[in-house]
Amino acid sequence: MQLPASRVEVMKFIGLKMDDLIGKFLKPIDTNWQPSDLLPESDSEDFLTDIKLLQESCKELPYDYIAVLIGDTITEEALPTYESWLMSVEGVDNDNEPQGWAKWVRWWSAEENRHGDLLNKYLYLSGRVNMREMETSTQYLIADGFDIGTGTDPYKNFVYTSFQELATNISHRRTATLSKQYGNNHLSKICGVIAADEMRHYKAYKTFVSKIFEIDPSEMMLAFEYMMKKKIVMPAHFLRETGVKMGQTFSHFSDAAQRLGVYTANDYIEIMESLIKDWNIEGMRDITEQAEKARDYIMALPARLRRIAERTRVPELEYEFSWITR
Ligand SMILES: [Fe+2]
Ligand SMILES: [Fe+2]
Repeated sequence: MQLPASRVEVMKFIGLKMDDLIGKFLKPIDTNWQPSDLLPESDSEDFLTDIKLLQESCKELPYDYIAVLIGDTITEEALPTYESWLMSVEGVDNDNEPQGWAKWVRWWSAEENRHGDLLNKYLYLSGRVNMREMETSTQYLIADGFDIGTGTDPYKNFVYTSFQELATNISHRRTATLSKQYGNNHLSKICGVIAADEMRHYKAYKTFVSKIFEIDPSEMMLAFEYMMKKKIVMPAHFLRETGVKMGQTFSHFSDAAQRLGVYTANDYIEIMESLIKDWNIEGMRDITEQAEKARDYIMALPARLRRIAERTRVPELEYEFSWITR
């Protein structure tokens, strides 16, 4: 279904200064960190000693922690899904405007690609992971795609990406903190640099939404409400392992993250509250009656969800993932 032309016009207007946006929110490629900056150098004489030390520092990482790290890695590695989906969003046109929004998508993907690459190589060296099982899950996740309910609407999509970038910032930041507590400073640094990227990306997407709010507040409000009613699903919600039905591994991954406190139901609510505050939802005036209702719905939502979150329990039993050898 074709969206009203105004969406495309709004996108066009915001995308006019694409190079400024890229310069503000993404880093120049030549000086950006690369995975090899944070990994043992395979052409160095010390390589084997370095791997030994790396494996030593991974020995004591708890089972749930390894599971979360693997799930995070697979989520990052399903980047082809995210890039191709963003390319299909209304207003993104790689054929006719390769220097417009399509450029943003390519440059963002190029930065994101380092995350899965770095985590994958680290896990491979760690000696704790059944790489074949992990790789099979990655291939499945890319093949299965995702269903996030945004359609090709840029407004809904930017709500989704704002939410998700902050969610990944939180989870990578927490895995960094935990790793330090477990005595693995190297891994902590790895998770930390990734978290910092996610923070920049979050700021980018929430800025896009802020700009849309300035131009088309009622429609933007309705899109925000739509996504909040629909609930933001995680990009890896179809996660599975060999012999497991589509999506069934995801809940175990998510339970492990909740048990560790890496990403919890409370975080979901806090992200929502950050967005509400940053987009000044409460103070939004001069919108249609329908958008006012949407605003009021959104404002009341965090308290409602908090009551539900208080009642939900996270399963204590550890699930045995095929990804983890020891
Ligand atoms: Fe990422
Ligand atoms: Fe990201």
